[in-house]
Amino acid sequence: MEEVEKVKTSLILAVALFAAMTLTAVAQTPAPAGQPSAATVEEGKKLFVSYGCYQCHGYEAQGSSATGPRLGPRPLPYAGFSRYVRRPAGQMPPYTVKTMADADLEKIYAFIQTRPAPKAVDSIPLLAK
Ligand code: HEC
Repeated sequence: MEEVEKVKTSLILAVALFAAMTLTAVAQTPAPAGQPSAATVEEGKKLFVSYGCYQCHGYEAQGSSATGPRLGPRPLPYAGFSRYVRRPAGQMPPYTVKTMADADLEKIYAFIQTRPAPKAVDSIPLLAK
């Protein structure tokens, strides 16, 4: 009788351990390239504000005709994006590696990439008239 209880207990422990291991594995799997993790996007959002990008491009990188163009959700490929931010050609101020590390710019890029797409114009009743 006691043996049966012992077996039951170890079975339960084994199942619990397996579940815990599986969950940990899921949590540790790095996001695939091109799909940034939620944590990275969240950090990028904060950096987008602290570096002042939002002042011209809007809090959602949606842009404004008066201050700076829309940046997301389909930004330039990263190489061109970073080249522009480092040495802009127009009115935008430059952000050199000294003022902003590559790691920060990558997080900002992740934030921009994951912004929701704008609604289709004809899905807005007033504009469809
Ligand atoms: C003072 C306003 C201002 C700030 C601050 C600013 N930008 Fe800009 N940005 C612009 C303007 C205006 C343009 C349009 C081209 C130009 O005049 O340089 C632009 C263009 C860009 C482009 C090129 C877009 C394209 O599709 O060609 C990128 C990328 C960009 N900005 C990213 C950023 C990031 C990232 C930050 C923050 C680190 C930032 N900008 C901060 C004003 C600003």
